Amino acid sequence: MPPLNHLRQLAELILESVTTLERISQETNAIIPTLDDTDISAPQLFNATAEAITASRVIAAAGIQLAALTRDPHEAMFDTVHEPYKGAALRVCLEGNVSEILRDAGPERLHADEIAAEAHIDGAKLARIMRYLASHHIYREISPGTFVNNRLSAVLDTGKPVDELFAKPESKHSNTSGFAAMASFILGLGTAATTQLWETISNPATAFSSRVLDSALHRAQGLDVPLWVTFEQPGREPARQLFEMVMRAYNNMQPASAVLEAYPWSELQPGSVIVDVGGGVGWAMLPVAKAHPHLRIVIQDSEKVVKDGINNWNAELPEALLSERVTFQAHDFFTAQNVKNASAFFMRYILHDWPDEDVRRILEQLRHAAEPHTVLVILDHILPFTFRDSSFQYTLGNDAPEPLLPTYGAANTMGYLEDVLMMVNLNGKERTVAELETLLASTGWKLKQVQRVEGTVGFFLPIHAVPV
Ligand SMILES: C[S@@+](CC[C@H](N)C(=O)[O-])C[C@H]1O[C@@H](n2cnc3c(N)ncnc32)[C@H](O)[C@@H]1O
Repeated sequence: MPPLNHLRQLAELILESVTTLERISQETNAIIPTLDDTDISAPQLFNATAEAITASRVIAAAGIQLAALTRDPHEAMFDTVHEPYKGAALRVCLEGNVSEILRDAGPERLHADEIAAEAHIDGAKLARIMRYLASHHIYREISPGTFVNNRLSAVLDTGKPVDELFAKPESKHSNTSGFAAMASFILGLGTAATTQLWETISNPATAFSSRVLDSALHRAQGLDVPLWVTFEQPGREPARQLFEMVMRAYNNMQPASAVLEAYPWSELQPGSVIVDVGGGVGWAMLPVAKAHPHLRIVIQDSEKVVKDGINNWNAELPEALLSERVTFQAHDFFTAQNVKNASAFFMRYILHDWPDEDVRRILEQLRHAAEPHTVLVILDHILPFTFRDSSFQYTLGNDAPEPLLPTYGAANTMGYLEDVLMMVNLNGKERTVAELETLLASTGWKLKQVQRVEGTVGFFLPIHAVPV
């Protein structure tokens, strides 16, 4: 198809979707945000309904595709090559608490010198860094060197008072949404690891290895045990607790329905046992415990994570621990599973952490403990290919209108990003349905269905398996 047709088709997709949003706006009275709005927690037009979410995604996908089409390719790739600089600039603002300093200043603008004085950094350098970010719509420069927060920069705000952040930097991320924790983890340790991906992929010693210890992150950090084991070591509380908040951010990136509709929990008999295997501090099971008090939930993880998990639930839902309908258990999922009467084994963001051999070991332990009625519920990103693939009919993303990529392209990359992230950090991977089916079949499980859940991001889909 001639490129000019694509241009028009993409522009028309945008116009059609804007018309849809205008109609939904009249029907729902939802707030129509501007880029300058910093109140990002209020319900907004772009996620007011399922139709609004799709229309917004079409606009974003078409806009990004239009940019890929119309920009000079060298200039576009120049930007991509320099993405690490954007991350480095963002890290300065994140660790310097710039979004919080701007928020504490109220609706008033602040000059970079004033922001920098609070953060104990150089004002002239900060102004240049913020100007670069502002050109990507992160912060807005309103007069020379003077900035305000906006819709994107507000996401980095932990919501804490600036005095507290500088007085107690070690607890910056406690009791937050976790987004800034995730950003700190990725822009620090995670980015350092990415610089070693080519080295581990090309080095004959690691190129074809799927060992966790041969991943870029483990090599870059010189780790001789998996990252998870280091989190249990003395003095590693800050790193472990930062990671626990990272998982809260991941939890919040998906709608609660991702877990609530992962399985028809309400159909389980009163007293049925769900085991959240590798459940961390229990973010996934919180909405389930709230919505389904008739169930018993066992959350398993390593010893220190379990202690943090108990503290977490004592703050979030103490009644569930007191009544013992929710319990925590220290358990290594590579060893024999001690809960034998489970109605469901649940694993979210677990299998993607591990290479195939390790996944098999985890699945085998669960299979040994499974009863005929036990269901295995796996929640990970289930990756389709990026071409039109009629065999993948499960969810959002495979049906984007032409000439968009069927997956919504750069407006829906989370699954593919996580796949590479798992490779870098752990030699893990996100899998296709077929890959998971094979792993399940080789360990005595049969894939029963891929559950359809609307509104999840990046093909984050629950899979049900039953004992063969
Ligand atoms: C990516 S996190 C997922 C946490 C949780 N499922 C969630 O979705 O929030 C992986 C979890 O696996 C746990 N883990 C790693 N190795 C483990 C093992 N051998 N046995 C039990 N848990 C383990 C980690 O401590 C961590 O909490």
